[in-house]
Amino acid sequence: MRIGILGGTGPAGRGVAVRLAAAGSEVVVGSRDGERAQGVAATLRDAWPDHRLAIDGGSNREAAGCDQVVVATPWEGTMATVGPLADDLSDKVVVSMVNALVREGREFLALMPPRGSVAASLQAALPGARVAAAFHHLPAADMERLDTPLEADVLVCSDHGDATDATLALVGGIDGLRAVDAGSLAQAAPIEAFTAVLITVNVRHRAHATVRLAGLPAVR
Ligand SMILES: NC(=O)c1ccc[n+]([C@@H]2O[C@H](COP(=O)([O-])OP(=O)(O)OC[C@H]3O[C@@H](n4cnc5c(N)ncnc54)[C@H](OP(=O)(O)O)[C@@H]3O)[C@@H](O)[C@H]2O)c1
Repeated sequence: MRIGILGGTGPAGRGVAVRLAAAGSEVVVGSRDGERAQGVAATLRDAWPDHRLAIDGGSNREAAGCDQVVVATPWEGTMATVGPLADDLSDKVVVSMVNALVREGREFLALMPPRGSVAASLQAALPGARVAAAFHHLPAADMERLDTPLEADVLVCSDHGDATDATLALVGGIDGLRAVDAGSLAQAAPIEAFTAVLITVNVRHRAHATVRLAGLPAVR
């Protein structure tokens, strides 16, 4: 499985790239500048030589050519990034980890994107793709460090059953992550918005806390 990451040169994309590659995927870190992405990919490979990470870098279009695509851009740039790639993304599972947030002092506040979430906006902009939402609550710094064990639940939602299944499999392949089917894409709105609460807690407590649901008997 080749996974492309749009905006993959930032902390969020790098963290997902490292963990997916460690789980056995081939990853293409995408960027507006393919050379920059190649440099980032080399840095990630060199950071963990024992893991022989299959991470390459390229343009966002090259990343969009992969089997499955993760969107890891800031919310302001998401639609401008995917718009020209709509044909490349058609028929694919596209996983949004984008949160629409604004910082106000020591507080993060959730913004309300059109259709309630960035993921739903993406689905509307990419009618040929099957959009899922996942990875919103993971601390990027911990994700990028393979010597830091993860222990987190990742809430996954989509309007397409096969996109949910593919994303649950992607997330569940990463050591320490439990993938939880959280329902339809309508759930992306509260999932994205809750990230503002989580980051605010982390700022106040100088922590890298993430989400772990208590009392969940079994996940598929
Ligand atoms: N950081 C976290 O802990 C974390 C965790 C979970 C989810 N997220 C979400 O993941 C997304 C990315 O987070 P991040 O911290 O990695 O963000 P970031 O560093 O600000 O941006 C990621 C990459 O996107 C590209 N980019 C920047 N501005 C852009 C624009 N206007 N248009 C298109 N591309 C642009 C840049 O790559 P190039 O210059 O190489 O193109 C940049 O390296 C956000 O939506 C965030 O809410 C973050």
